[in-house]
Parts: sequence; structure tokens; C-alpha cells
Amino acid sequence: MSEIVVQTSDGVLSITINRPDKKNALTAAMYGAMADALDAGEADAAVRAIVIAGAPGAFTAGNDLQDFLNNPPQGDNSPVFRFLRGISTASKPLVAAVTGVAVGVGSTMLLHCDLVYAAESAKFSFPFVNLALVPEAASSLLLPRMVGYHKAAEMILLGEPFDAAAALACGIANAVCPDDRVVETAMATAHKLAAKPPTSLRLSKQLMKQAQNDVAGQMAAEGVHFKAQLTSAEAREAMTAFFEKRPPKFG
Ligand code: COA
Repeated sequence: MSEIVVQTSDGVLSITINRPDKKNALTAAMYGAMADALDAGEADAAVRAIVIAGAPGAFTAGNDLQDFLNNPPQGDNSPVFRFLRGISTASKPLVAAVTGVAVGVGSTMLLHCDLVYAAESAKFSFPFVNLALVPEAASSLLLPRMVGYHKAAEMILLGEPFDAAAALACGIANAVCPDDRVVETAMATAHKLAAKPPTSLRLSKQLMKQAQNDVAGQMAAEGVHFKAQLTSAEAREAMTAFFEKRPPKFG
């Protein structure tokens, strides 16, 4: 089965990340498939809402670290940047079902979703500093706005995981659901949205998001540092240490 499963039913496009043996870590090819699915959903008038979910057990462990080491994304049209552009400019409602760990982009993509449902077992983290990277997907802008500066500083500078109850308390998630109900809840909500007047829905989302008109600029600023850090000695050490299952050593 494909590592990105795309299905459409009754006006809802669902994108399911399906690489369970690697905790749904995202390769360039997977980002490309998700970016294509978002573009197709945007272009298809029959699609009225989009669900992003993980196959049960994980949402996503973030970018594949082997890919980061061997094939760091550099161009603005690389699959990861296409995906981030797609998710940050989607005009249709995005509903996330956080089916387990949501690491790195697994958490930053939620800041662009309109509704977020978290499984009881979900764990969120923004581990960029621990990997010698910097925040991406405009999370350095959106997270402080969403949760307040001090909470965001704790999440980004310490990079420690937090659970679904904490995500709910600080506004990253709308609700916490039993693990076996989270996808169903997100799908049911998306179907509710799909039955609403599409122009009104699109304009209402646009009006709420237009205050965030600095997202693209922040992503570009983050991208400069992210790309440079990706090929730094400290990032190589952090990622190699993960695969060697040892603590990293920073000079
Ligand atoms: N990239 C590549 N492989 C990854 C991965 C990633 N981001 N996350 C997990 N994997 C792989 C592991 O190497 C392991 O592979 P193996 O079975 O061949 O050894 C497998 O997925 C299972 O991961 P494991 O660490 O054993 O699962 P866990 O339940 O103990 O921990 C995580 C899950 C997600 C907390 C942990 O895997 C992790 O911290 N991953 C790295 C997350 C990360 O830093 N992402 C980048 C963000 S920018």
C-alpha cells in the first residue's frame, strides 16, 4: 500500500500518512504526494474539506532524518516547501486527526489546520533546537501567537514532548478523542463542513487567516536558517546520534 493514501468521499478529501514501521516519518516523495493531493483538492470544486491523518499508531515522526542527512532539501520548489506552501495557503478547511506522535512538521502543520482532533495517546513536539535546526512552517510566528510567548519558548527552546491534554489546554487541539475514534471524529467534522455553503466557508476562513499575512515572509526567513543549519556539523551530530541511539555531543 502507498505511503500516502489519498481518498475522496462525499466532498471530503482525506490524506493518510502510512509508513508505520518508521512512525510515519516523511520522505521527500511523501511530501511530494501530499503536496500533489493538496493541489488537487484545491483545484477540484467537488472537494469541500480536507482531512490529514496518520495511519493508527503515529501521526508523523516528522521529516525522515535519513533524508535530512543524505538529501537535505534546498530549493524553494523541493517537495517539503511545496507541501508547506500548500498547507499554509489552502482555501478549503483542513481538519487534522493526530493519531499518535506528532514530531516537528507533525506539530507545525497543525498550526495551519483549521480544526485539530488529538488521540488520547498523541504526543506533540517541536524538537528543532535539539536537532540543531530552527523552527519551520512559520511556527516561530504562529506558535507564540497561539499559545503565548513563554509557552512557545518552552516548546521551541526546550523541545520536550507534551501530551494531548496539554495541547488541548494551550489551544493547539480542539478536542481529545479516544485513540480509536479520532479519525472518525475528524471525518465526521469534515463531512459537516463539506455540507456548508462553500463560498461562505472559504471567505470566512480567508477573513480569519488574513491577519496572518506575514506567514510567507516568516517561512522564507526560517528557510534561510533552516537550510544552512541542515548541513551544519551540529545538525549532523544530532541526527547521527539519533540513529546511533546515543545522546548527541555539541562542542
Ligand atoms: N526519520 C527516520 N526514521 C525515523 C524517524 C525519523 N524522523 N522517526 C522514527 N524513525 C524510525 C526509527 O529509526 C526506527 O527505525 P528502526 O526500527 O529501523 O530502528 C523506527 O522509526 C521506530 O522508531 P523508534 O524510535 O524505535 O520508536 P519510538 O516509539 O521509541 O519513538 C519517536 C518514536 C517518534 C519519539 C522517535 O522515533 C523519534 O524521536 N524520532 C525522531 C523524530 C524527529 O526528530 N523528527 C524530525 C523532526 S524535524
